[in-house]
Amino acid sequence: MQLIDGKATAATIKKEIAEEVERIVAAGGKRPHLAAVLVGHDGGSETYVRNKVKACEECGFTSTLVRYEADVTETELLACIDRLNRDADVDGFIVQLPLPPHIDEQRIIEAIDYRKDVDGFHPVNVGRMAIGLPCYVSATPKGIYELLRRYAIPTSGKKCVILGRSNIVGKPMAQLMMQKSLGDATVTVCHSHSTTLKEECRTADILIAAIGRPGFVTADMVKEGATVIDVGTTRVPDATRKSGFRLCGDVRFDEVNPKCSYITPVPGGVGPMTICMLMLNTLAAGKKEYYR
Ligand code: GUN
Repeated sequence: MQLIDGKATAATIKKEIAEEVERIVAAGGKRPHLAAVLVGHDGGSETYVRNKVKACEECGFTSTLVRYEADVTETELLACIDRLNRDADVDGFIVQLPLPPHIDEQRIIEAIDYRKDVDGFHPVNVGRMAIGLPCYVSATPKGIYELLRRYAIPTSGKKCVILGRSNIVGKPMAQLMMQKSLGDATVTVCHSHSTTLKEECRTADILIAAIGRPGFVTADMVKEGATVIDVGTTRVPDATRKSGFRLCGDVRFDEVNPKCSYITPVPGGVGPMTICMLMLNTLAAGKKEYYR
């Protein structure tokens, strides 16, 4: 079994980005600028956004954090999005999810100018990805694809099983893996109502678990020699940690590990790649790579 080191891969990519940014700036170009909108004080969201701002510094980007209390109105948030859409200095921005229940998340996503939607959540980007056009791709699936590519794991013609059908991970992951010019794999998506889930998993050359259920994938669900990608990051209480919790993946690492050819750990696997891909999308936004 070989461990897929997302932390080291992300560090390498961030260094590559930082070098490119310095070349752009030295040639008289503009530093990419990412803005992040954070609503409320959810612990997970606070950590993610803090790490995104830190990653911007590592990459040599300008970053702006816009904060609102949890009682912000949808109208106020839409006005903020309108300002960011029109701000010529901001190349790309994200609104950290989840949002409080009184705000219509989809309405917020659709208010973002798709040309600045570095999360790749806007229907224009989702649709363009589905038909293989240049666009911003959601960071977690993009990061997983990048790991498979950098570890030279064959995907063409292979059987890929994805657990989970979320708009952020499962669905875009399936699109990337089936795309002829990308994964070129045979893709099956399983979810909470799949009656043949275990049997499907056992056929997978590449198994991608993104269901958010700690320890869901057991050794009997994994084919000998498979590549297993664990997207789970559930916080479980742990009194021995200063934070009071630890991150738990969807895969029982200790029992699945001996059967795999490749496996991602939690933490240190997919997680660090996600923020890194947001940085790559922001670099593309700064360079106006997909849209003018
Ligand atoms: N919440 C969980 N993941 C993400 C993400 O990739 N982007 C945003 N904006 N919110 C999230």
